[in-house]
Amino acid sequence: MNFTFYGHSCFSIEVGGKKLLFDPFITGNELAKDIDINSIEADFILLSHGHGDHVGDLVSIAKRTGAQVIGMYETINWVQAQGVENCHGMNYGAFDFPFGNARLVPAWHSSGLPDGSYGGNPGGWLIKTAEGNFYFAGDTCLSMEMQLIPRYAKVDFAILPIGGNFTMNVEDAVIAAEFIQCNKIVGVHFDTFGYIKIDHDTARKTFSGAGLHLVLPAIGETISL
Ligand code: NI
Ligand code: MN
Repeated sequence: MNFTFYGHSCFSIEVGGKKLLFDPFITGNELAKDIDINSIEADFILLSHGHGDHVGDLVSIAKRTGAQVIGMYETINWVQAQGVENCHGMNYGAFDFPFGNARLVPAWHSSGLPDGSYGGNPGGWLIKTAEGNFYFAGDTCLSMEMQLIPRYAKVDFAILPIGGNFTMNVEDAVIAAEFIQCNKIVGVHFDTFGYIKIDHDTARKTFSGAGLHLVLPAIGETISL
């Protein structure tokens, strides 16, 4: 599967000929200033929660691409109120989409929308497809709920927040990798703000010391996972 990083927790995964975009937040991210958001294609946009650093560019990209926006029911109510018509609200549960099975799973965090609307509970995504399976934790601390992930699927790779302060840090993410039984981790939610700046070499070494591989993609980079 091709994985393209757009900075912070925004990335796109191409699977089964469909482009899945997660947590679009680009123009508010100084580190992603070289990304042209009008060049981003999407067939589906999946949201982990309603915070501005996850939905900042959602409305413009959704309206331009016509992509279907999928997320927690209350977050989707806000998306619809912004004039985005092609939406699919869920709660913690799974549904078969044209790209595969998407399960909204718990995250320990909060989820208010930029205008103060209630976003419902925050989540992460377990995506099962014919080409493989992956897990995106969203914004969360380390959670025992992650131990359920391998009961549902063997994940080929996982996208985990590693910046600390608002989410897991590197040490937490190493334990999360053990919980989900996955040794290929893509780190996200780091460096964007002062509180979440990390040392990349230390992060990589911490993972390799635990027998795990940490990928820290550059913004704009596409890698095969
Ligand atoms: Ni958040
Ligand atoms: Mn966040």
